[in-house]
Amino acid sequence: MTDSNFSVDSTASSPGPDPAGGKIVLSGMRPTGRLHWGNYTGALENWFALQEEYRCYFMAADWHVLTTALERADEIAQNTRDMILDWLGAGLDPERSVLFVQSRIKEHAELFLLLSMCISMGRLERNPTFKEQVKDLDLKGEISFGHLGYPVLQAADILVYRAHAVPVGEDQLPHIELTREMVRRFNHHFGEVFPEPEALVTRFARFPGTDGKRMSKSLGNTIEIAASPEEIKQKLMPAFTDPARKRRSDPGDPEVCAIYTWYKKFMPEAADETAYECRTAARGCVDCKKKLLAGVVEHFAPLRERRQQYVDDPKLVDEIVETGCQRARDAAVATMDAVRAAMNLG
Ligand code: TRP
Repeated sequence: MTDSNFSVDSTASSPGPDPAGGKIVLSGMRPTGRLHWGNYTGALENWFALQEEYRCYFMAADWHVLTTALERADEIAQNTRDMILDWLGAGLDPERSVLFVQSRIKEHAELFLLLSMCISMGRLERNPTFKEQVKDLDLKGEISFGHLGYPVLQAADILVYRAHAVPVGEDQLPHIELTREMVRRFNHHFGEVFPEPEALVTRFARFPGTDGKRMSKSLGNTIEIAASPEEIKQKLMPAFTDPARKRRSDPGDPEVCAIYTWYKKFMPEAADETAYECRTAARGCVDCKKKLLAGVVEHFAPLRERRQQYVDDPKLVDEIVETGCQRARDAAVATMDAVRAAMNLG
């Protein structure tokens, strides 16, 4: 890491040279806390790679947190900060990509309002993500108007940058489809203002947490990407392995073991040998975990180091966010001028 990676021109409000002929990517994450290995494999690595090819906008979707967690509003600012530190640690490059915070760009709210006229209530009520959340969160009778409108806000996030592509997990596909429907409706009435965005589905096998179930904050089975070696050890050593392998001398089945999946992800060069030694009981689980621990600590060391450099320079982080928001705002303001002109508004 050279010093130049840590400078950012806070006066620059327009993004730098355009890769991929101006194709625009936008994605967002809700700031709900520190990012974990599942977020890393599922999204962050993909975002990192997309920076090579696209003009990328990466957004902390803080308003979206409020749709389901109004009572936790006071945590959002800190969570946003932590998440952006994780992004920077993981190598998102604030020179190339626009890193910004949703609530600081008021144009999202204006477009949200206008798009809310382009979709029916019934369509939003049939949104499978919404139906599932209502079931999971046991919200019956307590559903906010904003929660129902979640996909409309998400559409505004995407369209206010006239994004062509949206990297998301499979669970978000219904929202992208809704966005495309709103685009068609809008463009039909007011002319070709928005491109119809495509989802770039992040294909990743379900990534296991410490209990072998899908890694997810709500299940309490996560390991954070910025965890210290000691914290990783505390969570990794008791983690889920093949439950049928009771004694050290029993052969194991790596395919059902979280540790083996983590090997494949973080120490791929050692994965085949690990599977073989597990199946033949040549290696015990404790040794297997110790070896993985060393590999994982090494894998995340550069990320942790880079993150720490940003932690130590809070003014730089403020500047990065400020510059990102300014770049985002410039683009959003231009879109809204076009939208108002197309709609014959003020
Ligand atoms: N709904 C997304 C999620 O929960 C977060 C998000 C908000 C988003 N706005 C977006 C993702 C715009 C892609 C594009 O993961």
